[in-house]
Amino acid sequence: MDKLHINSLIENIHKQLLPQIHIESIDPHNPVEVHHLPEPWQLLGQGNYAAVVYHPDYPDRVVKIYAPGRPGFDEELEVYKRLGSHPAFSECLYAQNSFLVLKRLYGTTLYDCMHFGIRIPPRVIRDIDAALDYARDRGLFPHDIHGRNVMMHQGKGLVVDVSDFLHMEGCYKWNHLKIAYYWLYLPIFYPLGIGVPYPVLDIVRKTYRQLSAWRK
Ligand SMILES: Nc1ncnc2c1ncn2[C@@H]1O[C@H](COP(=O)(O)OP(=O)(O)O)[C@@H](O)[C@H]1O
Ligand SMILES: [Mg+2]
Repeated sequence: MDKLHINSLIENIHKQLLPQIHIESIDPHNPVEVHHLPEPWQLLGQGNYAAVVYHPDYPDRVVKIYAPGRPGFDEELEVYKRLGSHPAFSECLYAQNSFLVLKRLYGTTLYDCMHFGIRIPPRVIRDIDAALDYARDRGLFPHDIHGRNVMMHQGKGLVVDVSDFLHMEGCYKWNHLKIAYYWLYLPIFYPLGIGVPYPVLDIVRKTYRQLSAWRK
């Protein structure tokens, strides 16, 4: 993307997107709600802290906007600086006041793969492991790696959310996800290729959170 192109995207963000978008984070454990998004912006994803959107004229870029009152913007910027360029991660092209312009990662979150019954081959898990090792080599601490923060694209694994990688305390989500992958998913779901309804995935997600809270 040339400089002129990114400048017009930024102008668009300031003139059109930011004054009109309405995001609310009701509970930090559940995805934010996007009450209003001006045309022609498209919603790409909702995290627990931020919404991710894109403009059809700039399809290879996304804008991640933190919901009012949710922290993490400065940390995420710092993480992208440390990560540099790696095929399994996005890159930050511009950032200001709670929004970041990122390289778009094409793919399907593993959470959605589970829902739609899209087969996740072991290579995806190995790619993500390698990407997390790369992040560790860069002095970061992979954190909060769960099904909505990792994606699959053309059989390869991607890490879509690096916002908590400065947090030094241990995080077992990815290890637990891998155990579930090798012991449950690969022998049962993978051969059948069946999808799991969102309400069931939601129960798994919430039960996991409860169990983790009790362990502490
Ligand atoms: N660079 C990107 N390219 C494409 N989709 C993205 C990108 N970053 C985030 N998303 C989508 O937006 C969702 C929310 O973004 P995320 O960074 O996880 O927000 P949060 O920090 O609030 O959890 C992700 O699950 C993913 O579907
Ligand atoms: Mg996330």
